[in-house]
Order: sequence, then C-alpha cells, then structure tokens
Amino acid sequence: MITPLIAGNWKMQKSPSEALAWLEGFIGDLTKINYSHADILLNVPATHIASLAKCLGESPVTLGGQDLSEHDEGAFTGEISGSMLRDAGATFVLVGHSERRQYHHENDELVNRKIQAARRHDLVPILCVGETKSQRDEGHAIQVVLKQLRTALNGVELRHHDDCAIAYEPVWAIGTGQTATATDAQEMLSVIRNDLKGLFPDLADKIRLLYGGSMNPENSHELLDMDDINGGLIGGSSLEQESLLAIIRSAR
Ligand code: PGA
Repeated sequence: MITPLIAGNWKMQKSPSEALAWLEGFIGDLTKINYSHADILLNVPATHIASLAKCLGESPVTLGGQDLSEHDEGAFTGEISGSMLRDAGATFVLVGHSERRQYHHENDELVNRKIQAARRHDLVPILCVGETKSQRDEGHAIQVVLKQLRTALNGVELRHHDDCAIAYEPVWAIGTGQTATATDAQEMLSVIRNDLKGLFPDLADKIRLLYGGSMNPENSHELLDMDDINGGLIGGSSLEQESLLAIIRSAR
C-alpha cells in the first residue's frame, strides 16, 4: 500500500501574507478531519516557504518549491538553488512542469540536470511529464511521455522509493477543467510504472505516481481509486481550503 500524496501547486498565486493566513486556517481545519491516510504537500512560491515553514508546527503539511536552478550557487541572477529551498524549509520540488517547459523553454536535458540538482540537496523532485492535445490526437502520447521520463531520469540514482515522484499531467488538462478519464490516466501511469521497472527495478513498485490536470473534489475519488494513481498534483482546486480538504478526504 502506497500512502497517497496530495500535492497542491499554487503557481504564482497568493501573497506571502495571504498564504500565511490561508495555511493557519487550513491547519486548523485539518485537525477536524481524519487525514492520516494521506501525505499533504503545498508547492508554493519560493518567497513564501520560509515564513510558511515556521507555522507548520506539528501539522502533517510539508512544503515544496515549484522549480529550482540546475546550479548549486553562483552568478545566476534570479535563480533559486536546491540548497536555498531546503534551508528555507522545503522538502519537495516540482521539476519540468509543463508551464516551465512552455514559457521558459525547458527541455528534457535541463529537466534531467534539475532532477540531479534536487537530489544533491536532498529534495524530493516531482518530475512532471505529459503530452499536448495534438500529440495525443496523433497517437503519440505514450511515446512523448516515455521520452520525457527516460531523458529526465537518465543517470539519476535513487536509494529509496520516496526519493522521487512522477506526476503525469496531460498538458490539455491543466487549468482547463478538462480532466483525463480515470481509465486514460491509469493507462498512462501503468505504462510509466512499467518503464520505471527498467530504470529502478527494486523501487518502481513503490514510487509514487500522481495524476495532475483539473483534479477537483468531483473527480478526485474516481482518479485516486485507480491502482497506479498514488496521489494528485492539484492547481486550481488547491487554492481553496474546502476543495483541497475534500480531495484529501477522497484519497482513501
Ligand atoms: P490544475 O493544475 O489542477 O489547475 O489543472 C495542475 C498543475 O498545473 O499542476
């Protein structure tokens, strides 16, 4: 049994003070539901991590960054290193999110170097992969996703199955309200799991695989019920306490 990971992705939303008030309320509400069946993560803007980390207390919430530099330190204006995220209080980091690939031209080789950087600093990378609508319509979805996966993980060494997680996020489902069917998501994640067996034979069965792309309280139960969906990467529905709590409740 893999403990599901319910991971919010706030993207570039909420100011640091709004985030702090939100988290205080959220932690208070969490105590009212039974959450012990899931791990809870918020991937927040880097500017928020240090102050949010201070108010986590004994709560089960963990924090992650949304991106990191491939470099460890130096003259890279505007960049944020893995050690900075770690020191601020993050334990996870998203790598290769489709918005980074689309708006910042990140390719699979750079994503690979960022995964290595995350591991050097003991951060758990959540590698995001997914095909565009036209790639799916042309029947290339699996081929595209496997190329992203293999290049990003090339040469990466994992000691434990929790050293990395993979999020399958079809680009056409992100922020569109158009979710992949649970069957289609399961199909892709089982292909991913099989491929991971070649890369990490002893760990693949337990590496957490997430689905992302318009997950919400209405569809989360069906998605999270699938064998190879061990959690969700949730954008829009992670911004409201109620919808995130409802998704956490559905993860059993
Ligand atoms: P969404 O975003 O849930 O708003 O579709 C998911 C993501 O981009 O990680």
